[in-house]
Amino acid sequence: MGIIGGSLGYRLLRRISVDGDTGYCDGSTYIGVSKLEKLLGQGIWEETKDKVVIDFGCGDGDDAVEVAERGAKKVIGVDIRERALAKARQTALAHGVADRCTFVTQTDEKADVILSLDAFEHFDDPAAILRIMRTLVKDDGCVIAAFGPTWYHPLGGHLFSPFPWAHLIFTEKSLIRWRSDFRSDGATRFCEAEGGLNQLTIRRFQQLIAESDFKFKEFEPIPIRRIRLLANPLTREFTTAIVRCKLVPR
Ligand SMILES: C[S@@+](CC[C@H](N)C(=O)[O-])C[C@H]1O[C@@H](n2cnc3c(N)ncnc32)[C@H](O)[C@@H]1O
Repeated sequence: MGIIGGSLGYRLLRRISVDGDTGYCDGSTYIGVSKLEKLLGQGIWEETKDKVVIDFGCGDGDDAVEVAERGAKKVIGVDIRERALAKARQTALAHGVADRCTFVTQTDEKADVILSLDAFEHFDDPAAILRIMRTLVKDDGCVIAAFGPTWYHPLGGHLFSPFPWAHLIFTEKSLIRWRSDFRSDGATRFCEAEGGLNQLTIRRFQQLIAESDFKFKEFEPIPIRRIRLLANPLTREFTTAIVRCKLVPR
């Protein structure tokens, strides 16, 4: 999609950042605060209390552990990265909730609530994940998701956005070449980067839900605070900070 490529693109990117350390999307927004509460509001504790909860794309497990501490009956964190799962198990032990938390690459246990934070834009095949989620959620259960930045957000390229919209200006090839100077996972496409990046747009997410066995009970694109006056249905893809939604089985 980008227009600046080749060695010009690579050299410009190197000049902008040698190590990709832009400070964007590094989780610092959530230091000292509950990410779950910030993204989903205090109601999340009532929604998960005494429930079996799956945290899909749990990463290092901090949110899963917090849900267990706040009274969930059982929490299953699911992720494809073994390293993250190992860290999550340690966190559960350190917080005294290892008896109620498991961290696995897959499960067949049915949940009352599936949580998914900042993960939908990373799933390699989000339609397949929705199918898996439907097999895992009870018929009267729900999926509560918050994710972003989505693809047209200024930082929608995550690490590939060393400045706003860089991921749309530079070609995928030049961004990958630049990234390979400081990341060694061998990715040759955005989607192969560790943790994944599927270029999800808000419109595409809505299409995926329309084609899935879920429907929206709630859907809320939350505008980027600083440019919220510009947020409207036409600018939504560019002005939305995160998408928050609740899905229920059809
Ligand atoms: C940005 S991280 C978010 C982690 C955590 N939920 C949080 O909010 O801090 C996205 C996570 O999704 C995981 N992920 C990507 N594809 C996945 C898949 N197919 N199944 C399970 N997890 C996946 C990644 O490994 C990564 O840990």
